[in-house]
Amino acid sequence: MKFMNYIARMNNIKTIAVCGAGTMGSGIAQLAAQAGFTTLQFDVNKEMLEKSKASIEKSLQYLIEKNKITQKQKTATLNNLVFINNINECKADVIIEAIIEKKDAKINLFNELEKINNNHTIFATNTSSISINEIAEGCNQSSQIVGMHFFNPATIMKLVEVVKSKFTTDAVVESIIDVCKQMNKVAVVCKDAPGFIVNRVARHYYLEAMKLVELNLATIENVDAIMEASGFKMGPFKLMDLIGMDINYSVSNIVWEALQKPERLKPSALQQQKVNAGELGRKTGKGFYAYNK
Ligand SMILES: NC(=O)c1ccc[n+]([C@@H]2O[C@H](COP(=O)([O-])OP(=O)(O)OC[C@H]3O[C@@H](n4cnc5c(N)ncnc54)[C@H](O)[C@@H]3O)[C@@H](O)[C@H]2O)c1
Repeated sequence: MKFMNYIARMNNIKTIAVCGAGTMGSGIAQLAAQAGFTTLQFDVNKEMLEKSKASIEKSLQYLIEKNKITQKQKTATLNNLVFINNINECKADVIIEAIIEKKDAKINLFNELEKINNNHTIFATNTSSISINEIAEGCNQSSQIVGMHFFNPATIMKLVEVVKSKFTTDAVVESIIDVCKQMNKVAVVCKDAPGFIVNRVARHYYLEAMKLVELNLATIENVDAIMEASGFKMGPFKLMDLIGMDINYSVSNIVWEALQKPERLKPSALQQQKVNAGELGRKTGKGFYAYNK
C-alpha cells in the first residue's frame, strides 16, 4: 500500500515550472529537464531566458565531452525545456521559485500563480533565508508551500534543504523528497529557522573573513588561499562572488534581523559597498575579483 502511494505521488508530478532564470533558476531548470520532467523556465526578463538557454546548452555539451551524458540525452533534456516570458503560461504540478531574495516579491509571485494553477500544485521556494511560515501566511494555499533550498551550482551540489512550515502537509514534503530523488539530490528536512541550517552556520565563514579584511589583518587573496589550503573547496570571497553579492548580503540581513540583530551576525559594510557599486560577483563580471563575462 505504501509502495502504491509512492508510485501515485511520483506519477502525479510531471511538470515543473522554475520561476527566475538567474544563477539558481537556470541550474534547477536543467536538473528538472534532465530528470525527465516537462520543465517551464519562466522569467520576467527575456535576456535572462536567453542567457539561461545558452548556459544550459553549454553545460549539457560539457557533460557530453566528459562522457557523463549522450547526445541523445542532451536532445531529450532540451526537448523537455520550454522558456516562457508570460506568467499565464506558468502552470505546473510543482512550481519552484528562484527569484530575488525579497519576501513580498515571492508572495506576490505565488499569489499570481495560485490564480492560474490548481489545488494540487506545490509551491516550492528556493529562498536561502526567508521564513517559509511567513511566505505561507501570505498565500491562500498555505499547506502547499514548502522550502526547497538548492545550493550553488545547483547541477553539482547534492544537498537540498526541504523546509517544512507549520502549514506544509506531510504529503507535500514527501512529494518534494521524491522530486529531489529523481533529480539525484540528497534531501534533508529542516525546521523553519533563520538561515535554516547551512546558511546559519555559513554566515560566520563570510562575515569573519570580511572582518579580517576590514581590520587590515589579511588580504582577500590571503584569506581565500589559506581557507582553501585548510580544506575548504572555495575561499569565502570566491564563494561570495559565485553566490552573488546582492543575494549573500540580503541573506545576511534577513538572518541578522530574524535573530534580533546580534553583533556577531551584523552584515558587513564591505559587502554593502560592493552591492551599492553593482559589483555583484561573477554575474556582473566583478565582485571581490574580476571575471571575463
Ligand atoms: N545564488 C546562490 O548561491 C543561491 C543559492 C541558494 C539559493 N539562492 C536563492 O535563489 C533565489 C535566486 O537567487 P539567484 O542567485 O538565482 O538570483 P539571480 O539574481 O541570479 O536571478 C534572479 C532572477 O529572477 C528574475 N526575477 C526577478 N523577479 C521575478 C519575478 N517576479 N518573476 C520571475 N522572474 C523574476 C530576474 O530577472 C533574475 O533572472 C534567491 O531566493 C536566493 O536566495 C541563491
